[in-house]
Amino acid sequence: TASDKGAYDFFMLKEIDEQPGVIRGLEQTYIAQDGQIEVDDKLMSAMNQADRLYIVAAGTSYNAGLVGKNIFEKLAAVPTEVHIASEFGYNMPLLSEKPFFIFLTQSGETADSREVLAKVNQLGYESLTITNVPNSTLSREATYTMLLNAGPEIAVASTKAYTAQIAAETILAKGLGMLKVTPAAAEFDTAFELTKAANAIQTLVDQKDIVEDLAATHLSTTRNAFYIGRGIDYQTAIEASLKLKEVSYVQTEGFASGELKHGTISLIEENTPVIAIITDQKTAELTRSNEQEVISRGASVINIVSENLAEEDDQIVLPAVHQLLTPLAAIIPAQLLAYYTSKERGYDVDKPRNLAKSVTVE
Ligand code: G6P
Repeated sequence: TASDKGAYDFFMLKEIDEQPGVIRGLEQTYIAQDGQIEVDDKLMSAMNQADRLYIVAAGTSYNAGLVGKNIFEKLAAVPTEVHIASEFGYNMPLLSEKPFFIFLTQSGETADSREVLAKVNQLGYESLTITNVPNSTLSREATYTMLLNAGPEIAVASTKAYTAQIAAETILAKGLGMLKVTPAAAEFDTAFELTKAANAIQTLVDQKDIVEDLAATHLSTTRNAFYIGRGIDYQTAIEASLKLKEVSYVQTEGFASGELKHGTISLIEENTPVIAIITDQKTAELTRSNEQEVISRGASVINIVSENLAEEDDQIVLPAVHQLLTPLAAIIPAQLLAYYTSKERGYDVDKPRNLAKSVTVE
């Protein structure tokens, strides 16, 4: 059953493995045979009337929002802001004339997000909750709901909800882009690209051994670590670092590669692990040269690189996926690195100390 570990030691690994199926499920639910996006018409038209999207979320859902911003702006050409719920609730930025709010929340119960939604409702704005839990509080209190149908997520560290949220944002962005008649949306074959991403994830979860070895050699005793990248790879680096720190207690930062030299590089010592995510041709060489800077200060590096940009010594190669969807592939080895590092250190992977699956206090 869905809430049974079966042959797995921990739910986290089971849920990592479920990700290709979750993405295929979203395709079946929200994309018709002819490629049309099948999402509530009223929702699509409410989004189409907005001049700006405000994504509000906490934790891993916030990180899925960071990736979503790029997808909404590229496919639907609509300016998109992403906000941490606990910040937005009490320090609202100046809103655009016609805002539309998207709440990303696996559980649908996060108090920080509920607080913002209550204010949005008071202001009279429409909203969408993208959630994994039907009839959850945020689902009931928002104008519209889009379900992730990812199955129960039991491990405290979120994995399949994150990739499902990115896939859901992709589907919405395509639908919105078609209404807005953007060239990018017209060219983007959602079912084809999501299937390709699901297949890439399958390939990556089938190569667990590589990642397990890297966790043992690079992360089993370290006190700290860095994920670096630029652009969407930086967004992935932020979620990758959250995964590693929450389950393995290795102090980990996700950092914009080019910004390291402006201060943070002082933390690099002999053998400090630095994990680079490289999926964007525009910035691949720049990130590689930032890597040389840390290597010369003693860092031990792991490269997670798209197939088309891969070089001889890169440890983890990502199968090709659409440029907008590389975060779906790049996060998988990072989820596995977090899992195996935690396990190697002997922790309860599914129940990290001090954390709760759903936080219902502000
Ligand atoms: C908690 C969990 C995180 C999660 C966050 C937001 O802090 O430990 O894994 O990302 O809440 O949860 P939500 O259900 O709103 O996505």
